[in-house]
Amino acid sequence: MTKSSVSIKNLVLAAQKAREFSQAKYSKFRVGAALLAEDGKIFTGCNVESSSYSLTICAERVALTKALSEGYTKFTAIAISARDGEFCSPCGACRQLLYDYAPEIDVILTSGSDEKLYKLAELLPAAFEDSQLGGE
Ligand code: THU
Repeated sequence: MTKSSVSIKNLVLAAQKAREFSQAKYSKFRVGAALLAEDGKIFTGCNVESSSYSLTICAERVALTKALSEGYTKFTAIAISARDGEFCSPCGACRQLLYDYAPEIDVILTSGSDEKLYKLAELLPAAFEDSQLGGE
């Protein structure tokens, strides 16, 4: 097993473990995510739901904001785990936020022992670019 396949395996396990902490009392749809920083550190997240539904935060954005708030800014991969037998693809809001901070990132969808691998840019073609901001 190569070093990178070991870290991907660990990332998938971390996403599955993070899912156990999911706070999904309204939807019952439990999601875990694990974000790999360039230096090998893993940041996990789970979805956190609110009775005011629109305040709900997805697992991916929890992982990303945890990492950014601790000074980590370079990421190589994110693994996402939801129900066994199903792949959970990141929602549009998470795709955009990930793209803003890690446009080259690999996105690994996990379901049991199955995995699907995407580049984020494949999941968010023709993305809004922050380079368009300002200048008016
Ligand atoms: N959810 C995530 O955490 N990540 C996704 O990529 C898709 C959706 C959560 C949000 C909400 O708590 C539940 O799944 C149902 O939408």
